[in-house]
Amino acid sequence: MHTPVLTEEVLTYLNPKPGDVIADGTLGGCGHAKAILERIGPSGVLIGLDQDAEAVERAEKDIGDRPNVRIVKSNFRYLEQVLSQHRISRVNGVLFDLGISSDHLETADRGFSFMKDGPLDMRMDRELSQSAYDLVNGLTQTDLADIFWHYGEERKARYLAAKIVSRRKQKLFCTTSDLAEFIVSCVGRGQGKIHPATRVFQALRIGVNQELESLEEGLGAAVKLLAAGGRLVVISFHSLEDRIVKQRMRKWADTETMILVTKKVVVAGPNEVSVNPRSRSAKLRAAEKGGVNREEGF
Ligand SMILES: C[S@@+](CC[C@H](N)C(=O)[O-])C[C@H]1O[C@@H](n2cnc3c(N)ncnc32)[C@H](O)[C@@H]1O
Repeated sequence: MHTPVLTEEVLTYLNPKPGDVIADGTLGGCGHAKAILERIGPSGVLIGLDQDAEAVERAEKDIGDRPNVRIVKSNFRYLEQVLSQHRISRVNGVLFDLGISSDHLETADRGFSFMKDGPLDMRMDRELSQSAYDLVNGLTQTDLADIFWHYGEERKARYLAAKIVSRRKQKLFCTTSDLAEFIVSCVGRGQGKIHPATRVFQALRIGVNQELESLEEGLGAAVKLLAAGGRLVVISFHSLEDRIVKQRMRKWADTETMILVTKKVVVAGPNEVSVNPRSRSAKLRAAEKGGVNREEGF
């Protein structure tokens, strides 16, 4: 069961109004979607995307029977194509609540968690051709190290990549526990608050799902599709994503494509963090489309 983060803040910054057309690029457990639906009312339209077929199936059961809801299994990097297929040319708001949901982490066989034993998978979209298993057992040592370094900011990237490549010659890595325990055996448990496999798992997940590329493309699509005065709200959960969002929003502000709505990043308050620990790392940023659709030149 996924508890949405920063729901009040999403409503404040997205500012959905009756009759608005809103794209929720990351439906997940539909918590934000339901709150948005209450605001836009029956005259508004919510188009919800999720790249995970299981999330889409749950969303269909949850909100799919409402006449003003469209649910699509798709990566939000294809937002433009999805909206065009639904004959929607402009939206008043776009929400991206990035990353995986609690449902992903809690379901062992999705292979996202080193706390639960499961296959090394990590695909949000099970139709993707490469899983974490393929990356861990198939990438060259240099490519593995690059992924650990760039997507996990793992300081021992080269060392761990070398160890993994040497071990897989004897026995391939098949499960999350196998990989997590192997990392502990290489670097020790450490004194830090986070598990020593955290960064490698984050890196693999980002690599498998091409999360940063999708984010770049999704942001590009959102700014094109927003109507003048429309808002984009993005919630990110790690510094790599937040950096992309921050830089892109600043660039838009510099070129007067978008106006920054959040001058500083918005984070969860202590009350929310105490009831939903996942909200601790959430960072929300919002921008509003300016009066002229500059990216399209009119
Ligand atoms: C953090 S959860 C969203 C939770 C949701 N806002 C709610 O209120 O329950 C992220 C969801 O977005 C999906 N997702 C992540 N990246 C995506 C992408 N690039 N395109 C489409 N869906 C994505 C995941 O499969 C997951 O279900």
